[in-house]
Amino acid sequence: MRLVIKKDSAEAACWAAEYIAGKINAHAGSGGDRDSARGPFRLGLPTGSSPLGIYRELVSRYKAGKVSFRNVVTYNMDEYLGLPPDHPQSYHRFMWDNFFSHVDIQKENVHILDGMAKDPDAECEAYEQGAAGGFHLFLGGVGQNGHLAFNEPGSSPASKTRVITLTTDTRIVNARFFGGDMESVPKKALSMGIGTVLSAAEVLIIVTGYAKARALKAAVEGGISQMWPVSFLQTHPRGIIVCDEAATEELKVGTVRHFKGD
Ligand code: GLP
Repeated sequence: MRLVIKKDSAEAACWAAEYIAGKINAHAGSGGDRDSARGPFRLGLPTGSSPLGIYRELVSRYKAGKVSFRNVVTYNMDEYLGLPPDHPQSYHRFMWDNFFSHVDIQKENVHILDGMAKDPDAECEAYEQGAAGGFHLFLGGVGQNGHLAFNEPGSSPASKTRVITLTTDTRIVNARFFGGDMESVPKKALSMGIGTVLSAAEVLIIVTGYAKARALKAAVEGGISQMWPVSFLQTHPRGIIVCDEAATEELKVGTVRHFKGD
């Protein structure tokens, strides 16, 4: 696993955006032939506050003509069950407000789980089939309790897209988006599985802020454990964590020194 340590969340976002744009451009080819026979660049995406800076940086690179999303297909990792797409806290809304509306992505290339699906299990199964096309890169965040997408502690490394019951921890942490009221946070969500996310050729996780220090320690120095789902990244051949210094608070001095020399 590669651990990239940046001074603060702004620098971490810049590094990640540069990395993602570089991968999209490399896929498109040096001549900029974005409709090449190679097919679209398939990108997995997260929500949450951690990736916001990355989306801002990607939008600014798009506006500067440094990257295009015309030939990018996206799959978001999760969505709350029971929230309509136009709900202010739905991940549909988040993605369109913070990213998709500001770039040249084609609407039909955007995939987000439908929180209002009549048959959520069937929705998950169909989504998993779409995801089976594979991903060139999956961008993710991590919950304070180590969840990856909405794969809460106890999730299997082989898990696929499914309906998940959110932990009390997660509902308390996410209450800040729902007026501070935990009862307003949906109790369930639809989420890609750990197996789905880790099926990507590369996985890039953004971890910033002191509140994520324990999760980062578990991800980097802890053993592989379903109680810290992000630790399954250790099994991935091309796993990268980009973090800021605040998130390294619980790491050993030697670990930080080693990766800073990276
Ligand atoms: C939510 C999302 C996760 C995200 C996590 C961290 O629960 N489902 O995909 O990684 O929150 O969010 P934040 O970046 O706001 O800390």
